[in-house]
Amino acid sequence: MSDWKIRRAPTIKAELEVPGDKSISHRAVMLAAMSNGTCVIRGFLASEDCLCTVAAMRALGIEIENADETTLIIHGKRRVFTAPKHDIDCGNSGTTMRLLAGLLAGQPFRSRLIGDASLSKRPMKRVMEPLTKMGAKITAEGKDGRPPLVIDGGDLLPIDYISPVASAQVKSAVLLAGMFAKGKTSVTEPSQSRNHTERMLEYFLARPQKSDLTVSLHGGQTPESRDFQVPGDISSAAFWLVAAAAQPRSHLIIKNVGLNETRTGVLAVLLRMGAQVREIVETEDGEPLGTIEVRGARLKATDIAGKEIPNVIDELPILAVAAALAHGITTIGDAGELRVKETDRLAAIATNLRAMGAQVQETEDGLQIAGGAPLHGARLDSFGDHRIAMAFAVAGLFAEGETIITNTECVNTSYPGFMAALEKVLKEPSGPQTPVITSLPN
Ligand code: S3P
Repeated sequence: MSDWKIRRAPTIKAELEVPGDKSISHRAVMLAAMSNGTCVIRGFLASEDCLCTVAAMRALGIEIENADETTLIIHGKRRVFTAPKHDIDCGNSGTTMRLLAGLLAGQPFRSRLIGDASLSKRPMKRVMEPLTKMGAKITAEGKDGRPPLVIDGGDLLPIDYISPVASAQVKSAVLLAGMFAKGKTSVTEPSQSRNHTERMLEYFLARPQKSDLTVSLHGGQTPESRDFQVPGDISSAAFWLVAAAAQPRSHLIIKNVGLNETRTGVLAVLLRMGAQVREIVETEDGEPLGTIEVRGARLKATDIAGKEIPNVIDELPILAVAAALAHGITTIGDAGELRVKETDRLAAIATNLRAMGAQVQETEDGLQIAGGAPLHGARLDSFGDHRIAMAFAVAGLFAEGETIITNTECVNTSYPGFMAALEKVLKEPSGPQTPVITSLPN
């Protein structure tokens, strides 16, 4: 894939849909594979990360048919998996590796999980610790708990795990292992992370119990096979939301997008920054799905920290771009997790915003961004991180001159058609056609 060349864009007027949700696609494949029959998964995100999960399930003996690119027919085998013949390659996907570690902890065989250079630098102790307590034997071959992971699974004991991090991947790994443990497993997190695993377990009738920040479930259950519709990914929508929100007179409608309350923090932040944002949930079968409408404005600075962070964790790169376009100083705090994502996102954001002329201070767990000064085009690296590539493509729409983003192949991990969608949005002459939610109260 070539470098991206981006120029300043006129106001954005568009109506679009985004590809399926990444987090939900991974989980739908894993739970359908554990179920007692055939499940049709529609709206699946056919990106590199989620295809790693599909390949992993196939390597573990699950039959998966591709009805078309976004529709999978998965033949669940009642929680029975077979030993993989080779290493399981999780590519760039932390979700694949961490959730799979939970599932494999309960299998009576050895598996070895490997990843690409970025994933091989990411911390795995956070899942090794609870899974080892449950009785699995896990060795990290990399330094200090880094992949590859060798998992010798088997009989598991239930635990009550108090997680030190608000991480949906950790919570999900423990819950998936808990499905194979004898008794009741529970996980308590320090603040609410995305709840797709517990929602989907419920959808597949595995009946997790939820109380405040604790989720529990009884082991030994087999999920009931059901068809599932994956909504559009609000984390992919976030790039368009900011592109429209930061430009007075822009108007954007995104349809069929997931509106799970543990993921919509980006809407609350943009509203605080002065954009007009409305959402309407249209269906709620498994996951809430609906429409978002945004009208742009001159944005103003805000503070993002504390409990809000897990809800916007993947949107912080693009929200940092919004901050650079907003009047005043925006602070982002309690976001040290960004240092252990696909790249050190705090460092990547600071480097790239500075290259475009913004004033940015990096702290240990956040950023201070003085917004409002004009941005200028620059040659920027994605650092191999899909969300950095897309966030800075959007920044380029607001910059004087040309912005070049290099190393953009990584976008295929979550949003393969992003550049084509951007070209289409910029060409779209007339903007939203459907006056869908104009009658919603503000
Ligand atoms: C994810 C959880 C989050 C998020 C990641 C996807 C998931 O990671 O950043 O992109 O699908 O569970 P953490 O669990 O590490 O916070």
